[in-house]
Amino acid sequence: MSPVDPRDTDLPVSPIRRMALGAPPGTISLGLGEPGWPLPAAARDALVALGEVDARLPYGPNAGRPELVDAVAAFHSATSGVETAAPQVMLTSGSQAALFALFQVYAAPGTSVLVPDPGFVSYAALAHQRAAEPVPYPLGPGGDLDPDALVHALARARHTSVVVVNHPANPTGGIASAAALAQVAEACARAGALLVSDEVYRELWLDERPAGLHQAAGLAAGVVLGSMSKAFGAPGLRVGWAVGQPDVLLRARIVHNAMTTAPAQPSQAAAVALLAAGEKVLAQARGHVRRRWESLERVAPSLVGAGVAKDRAGFYLWQPLPGDVAPEDTEAFALRVRDESLVTTVPGTAFGTRGAGYLRVSLGGPLDELEEGLRRLAPWWKA
Ligand SMILES: Cc1ncc(COP(=O)(O)O)c(C=O)c1O
Repeated sequence: MSPVDPRDTDLPVSPIRRMALGAPPGTISLGLGEPGWPLPAAARDALVALGEVDARLPYGPNAGRPELVDAVAAFHSATSGVETAAPQVMLTSGSQAALFALFQVYAAPGTSVLVPDPGFVSYAALAHQRAAEPVPYPLGPGGDLDPDALVHALARARHTSVVVVNHPANPTGGIASAAALAQVAEACARAGALLVSDEVYRELWLDERPAGLHQAAGLAAGVVLGSMSKAFGAPGLRVGWAVGQPDVLLRARIVHNAMTTAPAQPSQAAAVALLAAGEKVLAQARGHVRRRWESLERVAPSLVGAGVAKDRAGFYLWQPLPGDVAPEDTEAFALRVRDESLVTTVPGTAFGTRGAGYLRVSLGGPLDELEEGLRRLAPWWKA
């Protein structure tokens, strides 16, 4: 057998990176999906303290530091309302590694994996990498989860192994009601499919915390993903987690251990500190996000029309193209805006065919860059 499997080589270059390649000098990026505010002091202090310790830096346990596992369990208990203990937590190198490990175990070749369209690009890429078929399902108005559409897609797909929901969603910012999550959970249980609920943006709410899968349907309903990368403001730590029933996580843990053992020890120390200061860190993060939505309304009112909805969460603006631009010109329009106004966004088509007619504008970056980027973007939407 050839040492190179075609599946290894045809993972597409991320369209987000593609927009960055060839950008003229001086271009501001509103493309990257990461927080642009400073690393919270709790994490900085923990990392500095580590640097001052003259000691060994051992591997540590495969399952991660027990105090971090316990802290994630406590955080999940508090935010889901479902009592969660250490055996229900799988610590991973970012939620990306949790997705990878779960797909390795559950997304068997030849099965269907239901993914939101538009949706985070990794879901389809990981299904594809497993020689499973990514089956896109549409979202509802505002990019919210439409349970009927998902259940309909599930009924039509062949041998569904995994169903992914993401809320608050990347790229639409849409959310899922508790009733919608319960309905989807029930359908997945009936179909024998693993439900993966990617909730990495859940703590970045403006008005009130949106529903979560475990809160809506209990811990047996599926696996919930969380991360240090968004609300905790520390994507570079590469610390994430999956919470679910121990037997569901068992084989994924083995994959994760084989891949990377555990997140780096300094990252785990910083994550412990961030969770210990969680209330303050998350309140500050929500403040950063609120200020960014306010900037949008102030600097680029032509983009938001009637204003920002109160039930917003996360930092993505899912912006319809100006009325005179056809959906099939989505990428061309994004490139024009980049090259003429020196600001990058992500064409909606990067997230699936149903993303045609939209740009994803990330409001997450540093505030000064964001406001300048929005100033450059706004005139394209003027009448
Ligand atoms: C919806 C979603 N899930 C998961 C991830 C992966 O995040 P991380 O591996 O940093 O936890 C991202 C990153 O952008 C994302 O947008």
